[in-house]
Amino acid sequence: MSDFLTDSFGRPLEYLRLAVTDRCNLRCFYCMPAEGINYVPRKDLLSYEEMLRLTRIFVQLGVNKIRLTGGEPFVRHNFYGFLKRLTKIEGLDKIAITTNGSVAGKHIPFLKEIGITSINLSLDTLNKEKFNKITRRDFFDQAMETYNSVLDAGIKLSINMVVMEGRNIEDIVPMAMLTKNNDVTVRYIEEMPFNGKGARNTIGYNHRKILETLKSNLPALSPLTFEDGTTAQEYSIEGHNGKVGIIAAHTRTFCSSCNRIRVTATGQMKNCLYDDGVLNIKRMLTNGSSDQMICEAIKAGYSKKFKDGRVSEANQTEAISESMSSIGG
Ligand code: GTP
Ligand code: 5AD
Ligand code: SF4
Repeated sequence: MSDFLTDSFGRPLEYLRLAVTDRCNLRCFYCMPAEGINYVPRKDLLSYEEMLRLTRIFVQLGVNKIRLTGGEPFVRHNFYGFLKRLTKIEGLDKIAITTNGSVAGKHIPFLKEIGITSINLSLDTLNKEKFNKITRRDFFDQAMETYNSVLDAGIKLSINMVVMEGRNIEDIVPMAMLTKNNDVTVRYIEEMPFNGKGARNTIGYNHRKILETLKSNLPALSPLTFEDGTTAQEYSIEGHNGKVGIIAAHTRTFCSSCNRIRVTATGQMKNCLYDDGVLNIKRMLTNGSSDQMICEAIKAGYSKKFKDGRVSEANQTEAISESMSSIGG
């Protein structure tokens, strides 16, 4: 029995972002301080069994796309076994993963085989030394191996590049050149304040500046139709196989069609990236609640979804001090 859900603005709930861990093996400075963050105790993480159960419940409510995020999803023990079971759930048309690519390279053919539909790979530069500086770790070669394996396997590939003044502006154009021969989408992202330090910095290089830089250095760019529920305004480039996209993550130009919900690695349901959490699903999954009870609680939680990220932010009770790794991107 399906029970499709819309929020109070008529937006359907179609897209679940599930963080499978808060742990990460890199220390990208825009996401975490050098010393890392306090990871939650393992016993407080959702188990795979719990994740599978809650995914089935969300599918009943209308979810047809899931994105697995983290932290770095591939560092969690037996993530592949979990994926194999997840891909068997009926009703999920899109199963996507956001990864830093550091440990996944050898297993990409397996992901293709079980039906993973797309991969977003975080890559902020094509220069190894700079990569090591930004991520504070030495995994550039592994990330590139993942890049090549995903292309070879024919899984839809997007690159996520967080654009930072003084760090990688000069990489904007070289990164776009990846699209010349390859069917890849390179997405430029405004930096957000989720760096685990609570620093509410305003971004230096916004979506307008990114577009100007692209336009003045590349052949003609043509905007593509914006797809509801997504984040990137995409452009085709004359003579290029792939595309570029700009994600106004901090400016938040795309909230009006938001159809997503987040579940953190500890089972907090969030209606927005800027949200203290509206439901502790982990508690319900462990206290004997029935699927029907959890469905009702999710519905009540989703009805509290605000119009956009700005209103959500204004309603947050605590100042942001979280890392993207614990929110789940
Ligand atoms: P798809 O639309 O499924 O391709 O994914 P995505 O772009 O939402 O996901 P991804 O995990 O690759 O995130 C890319 C960037 O978008 C990250 O830097 C996120 O911070 C930003 N982002 C993802 N989801 C949201 C969101 O709901 N709101 C805002 N403001 N930014 C987001
Ligand atoms: N601002 C913007 N994007 C970020 N990400 C992590 N931290 C930030 C931030 N402060 C990106 C990662 C990954 C995605 C899930 O979020 O690079 O691609
Ligand atoms: Fe949706 Fe909030 Fe992200 Fe806007 S900021 S797209 S409302 S989750």
